[in-house]
Amino acid sequence: EFMREISGLKVLEAQLKETLNLEEVFVVAGDSDASPWVKQEMGRASVACIKKRLGANNIVAVAGGTTLAAVADMMKSDFKNLDILFVPARGGIGESVENEANTICAKMAKNTNSSYRLLYVPDQISSEVYASIMTEPSVKSVLELIQASNIVIHGIGDALKMAQRRKTAETDWNKIIEGHAVGEAFGYYFDEHGKVVHKVLTAGMQLADLRHIPHVVAVAGGASKAKAIRAVVRQGHTSLLVTDEGAAKALLRGN
Ligand code: G3H
Repeated sequence: EFMREISGLKVLEAQLKETLNLEEVFVVAGDSDASPWVKQEMGRASVACIKKRLGANNIVAVAGGTTLAAVADMMKSDFKNLDILFVPARGGIGESVENEANTICAKMAKNTNSSYRLLYVPDQISSEVYASIMTEPSVKSVLELIQASNIVIHGIGDALKMAQRRKTAETDWNKIIEGHAVGEAFGYYFDEHGKVVHKVLTAGMQLADLRHIPHVVAVAGGASKAKAIRAVVRQGHTSLLVTDEGAAKALLRGN
């Protein structure tokens, strides 16, 4: 803590809280765009912050991405006296398997000796198939757990990078480009004002559900994500942002 004080991270946190109008911000040293280990540090910090938010019974909904994978890596079995059920925030959204919410959710549960449930809802299916999958009892029960979660942990991505990383169909690309999307979080694409310009069709948590979730934890860093972070926190649901110095400084410069 003393090191964080003298290195100016505490000042960055206070400024970001004010600028982004957030309850709590945690900034780790470095820039994850340049140094991959910074992501691990954000993971470590997120785990410590999440621990403080856990109660006697917890349903933790987790999204996908490499940053969330780093959060999962940092979870240890010292969560063992807590009752936690991990659920994926949303079904597959075109990510490769190691970055999928399902995979990350299972990994967090394994690392903490907790339970988990998975959501098997494929992407790019016809709306008829989608509608019938949604009535499946096994899917429905997981959807109910997601709705009842008390913590959600999600990453934030640059909109175009995310659209590229996922096998985005051409019609969706048009929506993302014409809508001037800058940021992405759990399958929603936002413009710089925080307006949703596209949403991936999959089951799970919807943006409006965040209003009822006590702890919404966003973990995202790297100067290149500044615009994306700003767009997503403009939704006003974020209770904690864990980020890095690179993103924090870019956000404060107004980039
Ligand atoms: O939804 C946001 C992305 O999953 C963030 O991905 O952590 O790999 O940059 P990333």
